[in-house]
Amino acid sequence: IPVDPFDLVIFGATGDLARRKILPGLFDRFCDGQMPPEARIIGAARSDMTSEEFRTLVDEAISEFGGALAEDRAAVARFLDALSYETVDAVGEDGWEALRGHLREGFVRAFYFSVGPSLFGDIAERLRSFGLADENSRIVVEKPFGHDLASAKKLNATLAQHFDETQIYRIDHYLGKETVQNLMAVRFGNMLFEPLWNSQFIDHIQITVAETVGVGGRGGYYDKSGAMRDMIQNHLMQLLCLIAMEPPAKFDPDAVRDEKLKVIRALDPVQHHHVVRGQYEAGEGEQSYREDAGDPRSRTESFVALRLNISNWRWAGTPIYLRTGKKLAVRESEIVVVFKETPHSIFGPDAGNHRNVLVIRLQPDEGMTLDVTIKEPGPGGMRLVDVPLDMSFAEALGPGAQAPGAYERLIMDVIRGNQTLFMRGDEVEAAWAWTDPIIESWVARHDVPKPYPPGSSGPGDADLLMRRDKREWREIKA
Ligand code: BG6
Repeated sequence: IPVDPFDLVIFGATGDLARRKILPGLFDRFCDGQMPPEARIIGAARSDMTSEEFRTLVDEAISEFGGALAEDRAAVARFLDALSYETVDAVGEDGWEALRGHLREGFVRAFYFSVGPSLFGDIAERLRSFGLADENSRIVVEKPFGHDLASAKKLNATLAQHFDETQIYRIDHYLGKETVQNLMAVRFGNMLFEPLWNSQFIDHIQITVAETVGVGGRGGYYDKSGAMRDMIQNHLMQLLCLIAMEPPAKFDPDAVRDEKLKVIRALDPVQHHHVVRGQYEAGEGEQSYREDAGDPRSRTESFVALRLNISNWRWAGTPIYLRTGKKLAVRESEIVVVFKETPHSIFGPDAGNHRNVLVIRLQPDEGMTLDVTIKEPGPGGMRLVDVPLDMSFAEALGPGAQAPGAYERLIMDVIRGNQTLFMRGDEVEAAWAWTDPIIESWVARHDVPKPYPPGSSGPGDADLLMRRDKREWREIKA
């Protein structure tokens, strides 16, 4: 279904995110018929460039980062027709009047801030003072949304001077991923899981986001962030919220975000011996983290594993383990829900220990597996064995069920005015309030991350973290 016609201004339109994700994503929506013919996209950036030159840049970006549709030259040409460009000085006066000239009355108006957070305030202010934005306009802001609680509060306050919370769309692209939304469908669309979804039946939960890439090329940004700020505070926190929240009364923005916020606010402070930090070493033909970061003494972590507790009625006593890192053995994101053993085994001590394990695979091969205990076939008595009920969404739903990419879906939600999959200001602040003391304790203790070889599953201490609790990570292997 096409969205309403819109004018979308992208600040930072010549930058990396715009070229890799936003513009090729919009092209996909265009090909899918979701972007109406009257829609216009206006690139804005510091670079002196004509609209024609901008179209060439976008054309190249689509060929490089777009999917198979990029081969359709006629479609690309029609998409490029919807594009124009204006050179704008985000911190000065130049270009703003001209930019206003691109905007039309009576259309949805959205402004995508694909720029560093230090420019958010300047741009927001000029959108108002030059009369580009009105009460119905929307702004989209990217992570990193702050560096800590204080800076996030400041950013929220700055944006709030110019825009209402209902106009602010804070992107966490994990919320745009199909299977992440599927978490809600699985939990709240089935009778099977929810009655068991608590500490009475669940032993523990693991959330893993493993990546094979390093930080080469973006070491400058990353070295000031580390895995805690770059991944845990936002992406893994969002996954945690969706897995742990109470059922919202309805699938609407504030109902969902209220429930997520309650989860974050119920998190206990993390004890320092429940956190493991790692940093990848050099491998064959591969640079170490410190080389990638350009700092031979860097203490920034490229890996974090931690154990957390949610102090509420549902989850008290069921720990949740988070793990994420760069240069690991595989690119794999999954949520593993490990159920408790049955209270009593009628098959006697020889039957061994068995547990149901539900694995929700977020990427790359989206699907679900449920380990079920059955009788091992053959004579020799009642021996039990765990076998998987395995479902790949692609196989179950067929190739036609190809979901749109995360960014493009979220941008369409902005145009529709649906904030459900965007973070509210208080949510972001609560996440920082939980993250800050963990990082502060590293600084205070001069903590040095544990080295790990590229292509591994992280430092051995991450396994110890589990073993101390008589548990183990689900293996990530190539
Ligand atoms: C980004 C992080 O937000 O998410 C990156 O800054 C990370 O460091 C990326 O690589 C992971 O996203 P995805 O969609 O590839 O899992």
